[in-house]
Amino acid sequence: MSTPQPSADGRSRGAVDLSIAPDKPGAPDEDVDTSPDSSYDDVGPTGRPRRRIPEPPILDKHGPAAVLAMCNQKGGVGKTTSTINLGAALAEYGRRVLLVDFDPQGALSVGLGVQPHQLEQTIYNVIMERSVTLDDVVRRTTVEGMDLLPSNIDLSAAEVQLVAEVGREQTLGRVLHPAMKEYDYVLVDCQPSLGLLTVNALAAADSVIIPLECEFFSLRGVALLIDTIEKVRERLNPKLEISGILATMFDPRTLHSREVMARVVEAFGDIVFDSVINRTVRFPETTVAGEPITRWAPRSAGSRAYRTLAREVLAR
Ligand SMILES: Nc1ncnc2c1ncn2[C@@H]1O[C@H](COP(=O)(O)OP(=O)(O)OP(=O)(O)O)[C@@H](O)[C@H]1O
Ligand SMILES: [Mg+2]
Repeated sequence: MSTPQPSADGRSRGAVDLSIAPDKPGAPDEDVDTSPDSSYDDVGPTGRPRRRIPEPPILDKHGPAAVLAMCNQKGGVGKTTSTINLGAALAEYGRRVLLVDFDPQGALSVGLGVQPHQLEQTIYNVIMERSVTLDDVVRRTTVEGMDLLPSNIDLSAAEVQLVAEVGREQTLGRVLHPAMKEYDYVLVDCQPSLGLLTVNALAAADSVIIPLECEFFSLRGVALLIDTIEKVRERLNPKLEISGILATMFDPRTLHSREVMARVVEAFGDIVFDSVINRTVRFPETTVAGEPITRWAPRSAGSRAYRTLAREVLAR
């Protein structure tokens, strides 16, 4: 890990640069969002009046970090995609961000162009071996100000090995502690389960973001997730809050998506973010490109949605 550095153009990382680079060669151009910024519309896709989001203040120093767990035990709802793109958008706003891959599948690492099976040391080694520190394993990403703590399949062994340890639920929090002063946000990409790794993420977190696919069956597991969050708050981590529910894979053209959205807003009210992530092939493409959408297709609607989400997170 390294100390904050001025960027190539000499500005410090605290400066907010809102100029948007052109899309990468090869990124198809069909969904470039040329509409006026819809984040200023009165009614958003949630069907609810939008709340005004203040411009994020410019930082002149970094830390202590807020830890956000990206959590839903349902698979394929956009946890990893949201971790990468929210992280990259927060970094665009001058925040120092650490992304923690806490899923043995290593999808977050892959999404940032890292081949997890080729790594000699990962988060597994930091957790299980006292001689390995965060600095040994954390690496920079192509996004300035955003670092990655990668994982691979080794992490699945940690879940078994930790069971016998004292303070097993607080392991992640303990290893992240030295990084808190360097970063403004630590985003933990959880695996799709409510097992010991996810409990570790919740025990280390200040708050949870629940990505929720706009699909009927998605609603079913959320009560169990909220129940787990409440148990962790009571027993392990009294400061734990739900930062918000993020509707993902929304298709404004289908009645089904709009109905699910209405149910979500009815059930969870104000904690549903006004920012909504539409379904678009741009996201699977970015995984192949190994880059966040904010770099792969900076002018796309998907980039804009994650930037608006970043502003909401900064304001909460
Ligand atoms: N808004 C979106 N529109 C279309 N595809 C998306 C969107 N968000 C994510 N995807 C795609 O859906 C798949 C699952 O997304 P992702 O890996 O982010 O979910 P996840 O919740 O992390 O999954 P898992 O539970 O397996 O870890 C990926 O192929 C991803 O590219
Ligand atoms: Mg994932």
